[in-house]
Amino acid sequence: MSGGTSSDAALVLDRCHELDRYSAHPVHLERTHLTRQHAQANEVVAGWMADAGLRTWVDAAGNVCGRREGREPGLPALLLGSHLDTVPDAGSYDGMLGVVMAIAVAQRLHDVELPFALELIGFSDEEGSRFGTALLGSQAVAGHWLEDWWDLRDRDGVTLHQAFLDFGLDPRRVHEAARQPHELVGYLEAHIEQGPYLEARDEPLGYVTTIAGARRFRLSVVGEARHAGGTPYARRRDALVGAAEVITEIERMARASGDADEHDGCIATVGRIEVQPGAVNVIPGRADLSLDLRAANDEARDAMWARMERRLEEMCEARGLRFEAQERHRAPAAPCAPWLTDAVVAGIGSTGQQDPLGLWSRAGHDAMAMARITDIGMLFLRCHDGISHHPDEAVLLEDVEVGLDAFEAAVRATAASYAARELRSSPA
Ligand code: GLV
Ligand code: MN
Ligand code: MN
Repeated sequence: MSGGTSSDAALVLDRCHELDRYSAHPVHLERTHLTRQHAQANEVVAGWMADAGLRTWVDAAGNVCGRREGREPGLPALLLGSHLDTVPDAGSYDGMLGVVMAIAVAQRLHDVELPFALELIGFSDEEGSRFGTALLGSQAVAGHWLEDWWDLRDRDGVTLHQAFLDFGLDPRRVHEAARQPHELVGYLEAHIEQGPYLEARDEPLGYVTTIAGARRFRLSVVGEARHAGGTPYARRRDALVGAAEVITEIERMARASGDADEHDGCIATVGRIEVQPGAVNVIPGRADLSLDLRAANDEARDAMWARMERRLEEMCEARGLRFEAQERHRAPAAPCAPWLTDAVVAGIGSTGQQDPLGLWSRAGHDAMAMARITDIGMLFLRCHDGISHHPDEAVLLEDVEVGLDAFEAAVRATAASYAARELRSSPA
């Protein structure tokens, strides 16, 4: 172990803040997929990767990548990464911390011979803030790409296809970002917890057992726009009042589904609503809502959606409204691989923190896309008050210090168990 120094943890935090500069807004942080700010962040991150001794490139899906060889060239790679895109009005750490910590770990291991290549990746889109579909960067790397996605549009009507071209990427070559399972040893990601559980235990680090399976929908409640004054109540088909009932019912059903602190509950969020025609003196004729639905396992989530959809349809029908649901995103729950989890737990243990908390991640991560093609493991760092997707996101310098030690030790533990496995499987 090279041991943590506050200087490399301080550098990690400084770099996260340096990335804040690449934002679509002067005041708050917003950096979305394939924008100018994304290109700027990629360039800066590639420079840091190069300083850590990595060969760098931007792949065919806009992810920034770096690689150093293992004890011989061309070996499969252990991948470390997270994402560089943000939600609107974001904090500085969701995603960026994992990328920047990975660079610091690569720097620490600069002169260490490893039984695999070490690759780093800053994913281009995890949040889905621009095109509504999440994990576009990591799904491209996992070789999972749907042709329909090219027609997704951002709020300005720009298609994903056009955004690729504007970014200097060739949409016909997106498959070149895909990695094959035999090229990879596994994927490790460090991330802020984005919840309150580590802080409640007064512990800096934890590990992830599984990542929530998520589905996202566009829900529409369709009524009829009419004069706000002249239409008697009996004749009103107010889509917004219907949507209000829909939203409350979604929350009621999710709350009643079990304890989301344990493994049996579902979590449902309506985060966006748009009303047509959106005038003060017109009864709303249409309301479009987003729904984000998560659970520790896909069966619980899907059963909830089946019940919810029926119930919401009935509610709307009772008000003379039409209910429609269009699925926009689906990611299966992704369990972490036991051998990488052991490495992460050993990494945490090496810092003196014993018996760490294992959490199911309510948040989505690039690791869940990567799980399609390789084993995954995740290290969580405590964040202040569990706040995330908010500018008040905060991590402690001392937590980043032990986080770096644990991450580095996890890579070393992965190397040890990988080498032992190789030895067992090689002919005598
Ligand atoms: C990403 O942060 C998500 O969980 O939605
Ligand atoms: Mn996020
Ligand atoms: Mn994230």
